[in-house]
Amino acid sequence: MSSAAAPIEAETPALVLRDFGGGPFGIYIHVPFCATRCGYCDFNTYTAGELGTSASPQSWLEALRGELATAAERFAALPTATPEVATIFVGGGTPSLLGGDGLADVLDSVRANFALAADAEVTTESNPESTAPEFFERIRAAGFTRVSLGMQSAAQHVLKVLDRTHTPGRAVAAAKEARAAGFDHVNLDLIYGTPGERDSDLDASLDAVLSAGVDHVSAYSLIVEDGTALARRVRRGELPAPDDDVLAARYERIDSRLDAAGLTWYEVSNWAAGDSARCRHNLGYWDGGDWLGAGPGAHSHVGGVRWWNVKHPARYADTVARGGFPAAGWEMLTADEQHTERVMLTVRLRTGLPLEELAPKESAAATRIIADGLAVRSGDHLILTDRGRLLADGVVRDLLT
Ligand SMILES: C[S@@+](CC[C@H](N)C(=O)[O-])C[C@H]1O[C@@H](n2cnc3c(N)ncnc32)[C@H](O)[C@@H]1O
Ligand code: SF4
Repeated sequence: MSSAAAPIEAETPALVLRDFGGGPFGIYIHVPFCATRCGYCDFNTYTAGELGTSASPQSWLEALRGELATAAERFAALPTATPEVATIFVGGGTPSLLGGDGLADVLDSVRANFALAADAEVTTESNPESTAPEFFERIRAAGFTRVSLGMQSAAQHVLKVLDRTHTPGRAVAAAKEARAAGFDHVNLDLIYGTPGERDSDLDASLDAVLSAGVDHVSAYSLIVEDGTALARRVRRGELPAPDDDVLAARYERIDSRLDAAGLTWYEVSNWAAGDSARCRHNLGYWDGGDWLGAGPGAHSHVGGVRWWNVKHPARYADTVARGGFPAAGWEMLTADEQHTERVMLTVRLRTGLPLEELAPKESAAATRIIADGLAVRSGDHLILTDRGRLLADGVVRDLLT
């Protein structure tokens, strides 16, 4: 442990920080509220019925202010001055449930404790059904620069399997409202491979995405997460599990249609209309940046130290109210662990994995991966081919074993 280590007093356990890692610095804020729970989702989020009187958006915001103040104080004790905040990402859960004023309060609570870069990227996730033109105008005026909307599909029967409560057209309408309110950067999230989704449904979703004029798309294959209502339905045989061949064909369809429309991939599941449209906050995660994750269950990473907060909003609020720091645990990554993470994340980027970082055994694996047509060598980087992107997890396994 470095002699510069500075302890953070947490309720349990104590957290030790070394210093900033030197990459861009971002802040993630977790909003743990949803109006209803989608059957596929295992994120740390709660409905009002589940929380009862134990926690509310008000108690959460108060605790968030406390956590940000304590973190800023502790960062100030590190050897390096706290960098300006390059990116903020308010995610969830459903941040749009806080309303425009609530999200403006969230941003103010960051500004009260940290210096924001003049060109900071400030994103909020939003659910289509809890947005309106005035909402986008309010958050644009407050300083948000980017909106990410969960669209998932344009097919009514697919949305129904996913338990989504918005109509097929609402996400596109919301994206247009965000653009009209002055947002240059708008993302739509898609999920593909939902049981019952046909090729024509995916095409309709892509038509809708492209009609919205957004500059960013994230597309994820449906993951059947253990413990979710979807997993129970699949186990009972009510719904088929997503089929790998179908998922691969759908991914290729998404990539070719987005690419033809000028949205090119920059990470295996993310496409953007040019460099300025890429999500800088997520690039910080993938490229070894530092970030503070605030809010229940949020994860942080600063200079090779990783910690995670208590998950339940009531416990989170109680811990901060009693003057504690809400970390539930922490770990200092070894050089090997940092290397593994770096390989896993950078290989998924279009900019690729720096070959000079590979150990001799890994370099030999990279040579085989190139010979198999799954990646190419471009300068001193290993970059996935189109087929390699379909098999990205396998490429990572081959590199690391
Ligand atoms: C956690 S959500 C938060 C955004 C917002 N609440 C919403 O649902 O629109 C972020 C995105 O993760 C994706 N996601 C969540 N669970 C998933 C799963 N099991 N499989 C694939 N994608 C998932 C969805 O595309 C979703 O839009
Ligand atoms: S609205 Fe988003 S965060 Fe909430 S349950 Fe659905 S997918 Fe998860």
